Amino acid sequence: MGLSERARCLKPSSTLAITAKARAMKAEGIDVIGFGAGEPDFDTPEHIKAAAIEAIRSGFTKYTDASGMPELKDAVARKFKRDNGIDYERSEITIGCGAKQIIYNIFQVICDPGDEVLIPAPFWVSYPEQVCLANGAPRIIETTNFKMSAKEFEAAITPKTKMLVINSPSNPTGAVYNRKELEAIAEVALKNRIMLLSDECYEKILYDGNEHHSIASFDKGLKELTFTVNAVSKTYSMTGWRIGYAGGPANYIKAIGNMTSQSTSNPTSISQKASIAALDGDYSFVEKMVKEFDRRRRILAEGLNECLKETTPLPGGAFYYFPSMAAFIDRQIKGTVIRTADDFCKVLIEKARVAIVPGTDFGDSTRIRFSFVTSEKNIREGLSRIADCVSEAK
Ligand SMILES: Cc1ncc(COP(=O)(O)O)c(C=O)c1O
Repeated sequence: MGLSERARCLKPSSTLAITAKARAMKAEGIDVIGFGAGEPDFDTPEHIKAAAIEAIRSGFTKYTDASGMPELKDAVARKFKRDNGIDYERSEITIGCGAKQIIYNIFQVICDPGDEVLIPAPFWVSYPEQVCLANGAPRIIETTNFKMSAKEFEAAITPKTKMLVINSPSNPTGAVYNRKELEAIAEVALKNRIMLLSDECYEKILYDGNEHHSIASFDKGLKELTFTVNAVSKTYSMTGWRIGYAGGPANYIKAIGNMTSQSTSNPTSISQKASIAALDGDYSFVEKMVKEFDRRRRILAEGLNECLKETTPLPGGAFYYFPSMAAFIDRQIKGTVIRTADDFCKVLIEKARVAIVPGTDFGDSTRIRFSFVTSEKNIREGLSRIADCVSEAK
């Protein structure tokens, strides 16, 4: 009797855990300022909600094809062509319950035991865990300035390397790869026949004139090696609707559909209808949201650089900031000796009522991740609480 080894080894998502802790404290009446959530604080736009309501009213409430409705695949194909310059056929597109499930299924269909998946650090918490669940071997590539060079990629390749994960804009750092950097990475992937998982969930959340480039659009050979993963979750503030999608080589895409058919069946029919409205609909909402994130990003970064005593460049995309807390290592704050980001975040939630995610599960235990998806008022209050708390460091 007992849990499987797989279940025993699996860590719960640290981002969801901190959000749940903050929510539980709020439910007890404690006023917590939350910087943990990985989701926009904007409401889903009305025209998207209206499409879902219409789906319910018209009885569109039954199973769909496991890999998604053909109409949604067509909307995704239009989106990939329009925004990313990639031509995908229906047979090269799959729909899932969020990008998370799609990424999970990709690792399931590409990994045999011991196959290596390269993951540049810092990384989104779920990549290594999901590779392990697929019996693959995550290999972390350490980087400088949050980005992996083509050289670092090439040096990490072994005969067992199957895939590289690229996430631009990045969660947790907000780093954005430019075209030249991606072209150099693409060349190494092509030369060594390494598959690519390009996680583009934050492609629309960009600042300072940064541009998004989809690696699969560079050349036909690359398209055959790449899964281009995206979701409506972050772009349209639809995290709870659970719709993600991917384009990729047809034989793998078919296998991913088979995985979905035997695990969750289809993504929710109502959310699929809403996602068509999102992908084909008015885009001005996204621009407004990004403008607001840009403003908050500057307020947060300015305040933190001062109280954390270290300057971290502004994130170029996404809605996260990943500053260092190294100035506090081996010091004491309110009676606790700080050794890692975990200790630091524990003190901040318990003593300052500010929820921040430690960088440890993102591959850096000297950094902390802030989401700036909360109001300016909350950001200012959070900054003031952090400043008060760390001013007592000895
Ligand atoms: C980099 C990255 N990829 C994928 C996901 C999963 O997105 P979804 O909510 O669509 O499953 C997230 C969510 O936080 C993310 O940050």
